[in-house]
Amino acid sequence: MWLNRDIVSIGDLSVEEIMEVLDRANKMLPYASTGHPRKPLADKIVATLFYEPSTRTRLSFESAAMRLGARVLSLGSLEESSVAKGETLSDTIRIINSYSDAIVLRHPSEGAARLASEYADVPVINAGDGAGQHPTQTLLDMFTIWKELGQINGKSIGFVGDLKYGRTVHSLSKALSLFDVSLYFISPEELKIPKHIKRDIEKRIPVKETKNLDEIIESLDVLYVTRIQKERFPDIEEYKKVAGVYVIRPSLLSRGRKNLIVMHPLPRVDEIPAEIDNLPQAKYFKQASNGIPVRMAILDMILGSE
Ligand code: CP
Repeated sequence: MWLNRDIVSIGDLSVEEIMEVLDRANKMLPYASTGHPRKPLADKIVATLFYEPSTRTRLSFESAAMRLGARVLSLGSLEESSVAKGETLSDTIRIINSYSDAIVLRHPSEGAARLASEYADVPVINAGDGAGQHPTQTLLDMFTIWKELGQINGKSIGFVGDLKYGRTVHSLSKALSLFDVSLYFISPEELKIPKHIKRDIEKRIPVKETKNLDEIIESLDVLYVTRIQKERFPDIEEYKKVAGVYVIRPSLLSRGRKNLIVMHPLPRVDEIPAEIDNLPQAKYFKQASNGIPVRMAILDMILGSE
């Protein structure tokens, strides 16, 4: 079931499969900083191809692979590869397919990972495709909620910020809709969650949309904050209208539930000031570090150590 499987969209995973990944990630936790003693992927090579900037996703995949004993091939900067000569994604994938056992791909075009999976025999893992999906971020986000709050069912999760372009929001809200949760979408009019995603979610669970974070903070177990993604706006003037629209302050969090947690996929800009970092609600650095056990679990499952 998992062997050689592509991880392109979170929609390809059932609730049982999501929970299987979280369970496996929990088992990987003790090895996340020391490395797995059996080095189960010692004969494997994992390739990372990033056509967009990344710190967490690329390095945590590379670290996870190394912690499992695999070796890592990285395309490196696009200027130093044949992408700079105009090589197509499909040709690049055909080549890397024969150099590696799995391909981790980030690309600015929605659908790029699905396309790559059609040209590769080895599994392709979507590390973010434009404003599309970021399924492994979703799995580490769900792992964080599960570990911090004990369960996912019964929780209220509020997404705030750039819900239009935020692929982490698109993936996570879709996955959460498979559980018994309530979702709140908090954004300015210009950055509302795309209608097709909202419609899909509303078939399964209640959803509330608002511009006003103040009015719903008391209802939340999780406040999932996102960066307003300047680079995705076709017109910089449109970005300027909404830049800095939500800033999380201690006074806001003090009105929240006792066990409220604040998450953010990072990087942040100004939406979470440093004064929040040492509050008990702040879980975003823990969330980023959960990328290691979760990505170890995924690599181990699809590259088949057992
Ligand atoms: N959360 C996330 O995808 O971070 P990077 O862009 O640094 O990979």
